[in-house]
Amino acid sequence: MSNPGQGEGPAIRVQGLEKSYKELRVLRGVDLDVERGCVFALLGSNGAGKTTVVRILSTLLKADAGTARVNGFDVAAQAAGVRASISLTGQFAAVDGILSGRENLVLVARLRHLKDPGAVADGLLSRFALTEAGGRKAATYSGGMRRRLDIAMSLIGNPPVVFLDEPTAGLDPKARIEVWQAVEELAEGGTTVLLTTQDLAEAERLAGRIAILHRGRIIVDDTLAGLRRLLPPAKVEYVEKQPSLEEVFFAVVGEDAGTGSDEE
Ligand SMILES: Nc1ncnc2c1ncn2[C@@H]1O[C@H](COP(=O)(O)OP(=O)(O)OP(=O)(O)O)[C@@H](O)[C@H]1O
Ligand SMILES: [Mg+2]
Repeated sequence: MSNPGQGEGPAIRVQGLEKSYKELRVLRGVDLDVERGCVFALLGSNGAGKTTVVRILSTLLKADAGTARVNGFDVAAQAAGVRASISLTGQFAAVDGILSGRENLVLVARLRHLKDPGAVADGLLSRFALTEAGGRKAATYSGGMRRRLDIAMSLIGNPPVVFLDEPTAGLDPKARIEVWQAVEELAEGGTTVLLTTQDLAEAERLAGRIAILHRGRIIVDDTLAGLRRLLPPAKVEYVEKQPSLEEVFFAVVGEDAGTGSDEE
């Protein structure tokens, strides 16, 4: 796996990060370490500042104070090194609707100066179950297909650090699981993933470490097991187990239905 950075230390190190928008103090001293190869979930209410953190780490926004390093590069002083080390999939997909899915991928592969853009595109289409839809304009894709294409585009060039800002917001349950599988694959390949989400089930399933951003600071930062220990130990209670709505949804709709597949 290509790793243009300085392979030492954590993939992401944030110390004392502060950011205000005029009077609004959004980040008031954020400290965060993300180990290499880890899926790290950043949770927080709407407006907590998750996207602000991601934008600072991806050099799109300047912090007021504090330091942040990504893949060993300082986000302020070595922005080019950071940009060469990361990809960013935002809350809103960056897919060009006029181009086909395949053309979108080829375009990014060309921009990244890869040798065989067509082969890179075909490999990613197949990996994200988009081969059949690959020739069609992305504007005709469902939300889940667009999101998968967007993630596929962000993986071109194998960046060692990937930012996923609410990658499954607005997706149906099946498309959501497909994105989860894509993230799991990334993690298995050794990519560091910083994920923001409102979906606690998503964090439980994917993240090796979970932090909560609240009132401008990280108030907890631990493994899922560690976070569970914050509450009193589980009591054994008799409960009638009701099927979850998700179980009902899949029982009624079937595993192979929905927007996640290639067909219209
Ligand atoms: N460019 C901006 N100018 C002024 N205020 C902003 C700007 N960007 C964000 N904010 C404010 O900063 C706060 C944090 O926003 P941010 O988008 O980082 O939150 P978030 O945790 O990503 O929220 P969400 O869960 O809704 O995506 C919010 O109150 C938001 O209104
Ligand atoms: Mg956000």
